[in-house]
Amino acid sequence: METGVQDGGIVREAAARRRGALFDKYILTGKTYTTASGDVIPNELQYYDGEMAHLYGECADVPAVNRALAGSGYKALTLNYPDGRRVAAAQLWSSRFTDSSIGPYGALFIVVIAVRDDAPESESSIAADRNGASSALVMFDGSFDPVARVYENRARLFLVRLLDTTQVAIDVGRERMGTDKRPGTVEMSRSGRRLSVSIKDQAGRAVVRGDLQLADHAAAYMPQIAQAAATAGIPLRQFSCDTEYSYPAVARIGQGPVVSWQWRSDVVPQFQPIAPASVVFDQGSEEGWMLLAWGFTPKILGYFPKVRGVVTGLADRTSLSATGRSMMPVPSIHAVQSVPLVRAALSGAAEAAGRLPVLRFVVDDLSPGRRAPVPPPAFEKRPDAGPPTAQPRWGWSTTFLGSLTALLRKEVVGVTPDGLRINWHVTSGSFVGPGLDATVLPGAADWMRIRRDGVAIVNVHACFETRQGVRVFGSYGGIFDLGPDGFARALRDDYDELPPVVVTPTYATADPRLEWLNRAQCVGVGRVDMSALRVEFDVYVVRVGRRVSQAASLYDRLGGHDVIVAITDDFVAAILAHGQLGRFFANAHIQEGLRDRVVDLLCEISGGPCVYKGRDMRTAHKGLGITESDWQIAVELFTAALDRNKVAPRERSEFVQIIEDMKGSIVEVSGR
Ligand code: HEM
Repeated sequence: METGVQDGGIVREAAARRRGALFDKYILTGKTYTTASGDVIPNELQYYDGEMAHLYGECADVPAVNRALAGSGYKALTLNYPDGRRVAAAQLWSSRFTDSSIGPYGALFIVVIAVRDDAPESESSIAADRNGASSALVMFDGSFDPVARVYENRARLFLVRLLDTTQVAIDVGRERMGTDKRPGTVEMSRSGRRLSVSIKDQAGRAVVRGDLQLADHAAAYMPQIAQAAATAGIPLRQFSCDTEYSYPAVARIGQGPVVSWQWRSDVVPQFQPIAPASVVFDQGSEEGWMLLAWGFTPKILGYFPKVRGVVTGLADRTSLSATGRSMMPVPSIHAVQSVPLVRAALSGAAEAAGRLPVLRFVVDDLSPGRRAPVPPPAFEKRPDAGPPTAQPRWGWSTTFLGSLTALLRKEVVGVTPDGLRINWHVTSGSFVGPGLDATVLPGAADWMRIRRDGVAIVNVHACFETRQGVRVFGSYGGIFDLGPDGFARALRDDYDELPPVVVTPTYATADPRLEWLNRAQCVGVGRVDMSALRVEFDVYVVRVGRRVSQAASLYDRLGGHDVIVAITDDFVAAILAHGQLGRFFANAHIQEGLRDRVVDLLCEISGGPCVYKGRDMRTAHKGLGITESDWQIAVELFTAALDRNKVAPRERSEFVQIIEDMKGSIVEVSGR
């Protein structure tokens, strides 16, 4: 997707500038993030640099606000004044981000603070204070989980309208879900303490203009907030700067179910009162008209001068039920493309005008009942044959490279002569592990073919990008076993919950630091969650060992990794200190990391579970002019290192032989 490709570059740039406490706390892996409690949250947007101005306020016409929410199962939370007036709590958010995971991004949100329709009075209203500060307090009326250090807001932010400057690719811009997202312009500028906000719709009609004076210091308005909290009976606590604020949000999708997700941030707004007439709405635009019809009066400005990081995400069902912290059920979701969205509108307004094609998330039941597991296949035996006598001849080992997680979008091609073809497009994905830490770039897909025996043949081509900005191309085949009746069921879009997948990745990169990866044959094992359309597998580098007739590898017989390290330390130290050989290493940068690379090499060539990631011996020593005499000394020093570490005679000669075998790649000058 065109815009998706742009996104890859932006993600890379943004990743390079990632910072801030929120991002330190999570393992951020591109399009998903893992919370402190281990929940994996598909990520919508990550904000890095920018400012936000939130206008917290109240709406005099509660029924008008509730009409905009009609059918969603939610109603506006009310602020109750001592004189009997009831107003709805609403907010207008204006954001201007110069750097986010979808690039520069400006947006206006109209947000109603909502509670479930059936919430009792005690939970659907709070006592309002005279200075209007209770309209901001709803953001802090919640509960704090001291273990996870998360403060979760009690009420839901119900997003009704959204104007934004990007109209980004649908795969990336899922934050538009459930809202009537339309193009608009957002301008925010500061001059000293003066903040000007100007928001226009796509026709250039003004929605709102604000000319605001910022407070002298962040805590200026806190006494009034504290007073409002006392009136409302909301405990206002001070949290340390690593507290995470979670704002659960909901939005209606047409007349259908409501999707929910969470906004998480570690920034707290600076509050200040809004002077009357400093914010003006214009009824020329629909958004301005909507707010005027609601009787929206902004009371408090919440200003975030420097947004270090806000992650929005659709909390996934499994993660929420696992933690038990969910306050409402989150529907099972999958995306359908190009479905028009009905705009939330006031009665009397043009109901379906300006429908936009956006991603639609639908509630879907899990497939009925778990089927009996397919028994492992029984291998055919010849009647006259005894138990198989063949023994494996070659040793092998695997080293964990990392785990891949990817969310998929399904594209059915249909039943072709060679099976049912389905393309699974990766909408977001990451690869995290000791060997590689990368995101999956847009365009990755599995061009899969499901055979009539229910075996799906995997055919993935993907491009990854590491945190350092290195591109790695990966491709693999493999088997995704849907069971004997898998073909017929796939035609009905009916799958087991977690079919197993085994794949055989290889990688290609131009970066010399990852050259070792070009030589790695990997195997990946995992499963695909067919309701979440999420694939997860672990990838291992497979290495071939020596003949298994030798009961144990040289590495094991030597005593494992500690012994390899001790031998290397002695060997390297002796070479560096040697009068004749030391000259090769005079330059300090040559010594950097050398010892670790030698450890990995000796570990690998002795049959241990390491992956040597340096250059091959010929390349590493090319042009050094190493002579026969240098070589003899090196072998003597190596043998001495073995002796110092009390290596037994058989292993000693075996190891020296392995080193001797390298001579042809290292020595360039024969004779002295
Ligand atoms: C006469 C003997 C040897 C000499 C003078 C020598 C010298 C060097 C020098 C100068 C380098 C640094 C090259 C550079 O950074 O441009 C190097 C790299 C290296 N050498 Fe040797 N070497 C000798 C033998 C060996 C042996 C026997 C081994 C095997 C254990 C070995 C393993 C390595 C490794 C792993 C590297 C790092 C390769 C990389 O850049 O990733 N060398 N050697």
